[in-house]
Amino acid sequence: MSDQPIDRAPTRRTVITFGTFDVFHVGHLRVIERAAALGDRLVVGVSADELNLRKKGREPVFSQGERLEIVAALRCVDQVFVEESLELKRDYIVQHGADVLVMGDDWTGRFDELKDACEVVYLPRTPAISTTAIIEHIADL
Ligand code: CTP
Repeated sequence: MSDQPIDRAPTRRTVITFGTFDVFHVGHLRVIERAAALGDRLVVGVSADELNLRKKGREPVFSQGERLEIVAALRCVDQVFVEESLELKRDYIVQHGADVLVMGDDWTGRFDELKDACEVVYLPRTPAISTTAIIEHIADL
């Protein structure tokens, strides 16, 4: 038997998730909290203003700097970064050492090709709330 002490430090499981998180609402909070519960460290990629414009066809209400600040302030978030492109998911997973990718189930199947890089989990969306619905609701007041 070796005299070497056994390294019993548990391996930290890193979770990564992505989104615009504009007009931050409870659906955003729930997906972030549930993502954090799947590991020990949560990294969040917040979509760049440019990416949001390409993805959703509108400028976000809050700038990427403000959105990053809001998400970074959450207790369960360990790190945030700007997601510049949807096509770079694999690079972001590798850069951040992610073991699990979490996406809302509006993306089901879309990231299955990344299953060779990490575990891919799709979480059910919180019903009846979205940034789009909030913007439309306020516009109608
Ligand atoms: N999300 C969720 N439940 C909701 C709304 C969003 O779980 N009711 C999740 C999405 O699935 C995604 C993350 O929150 O994983 C960020 O979503 P985002 O597109 O920024 O928010 P939406 O409210 O869906 O925005 P929009 O209405 O502009 O599409």
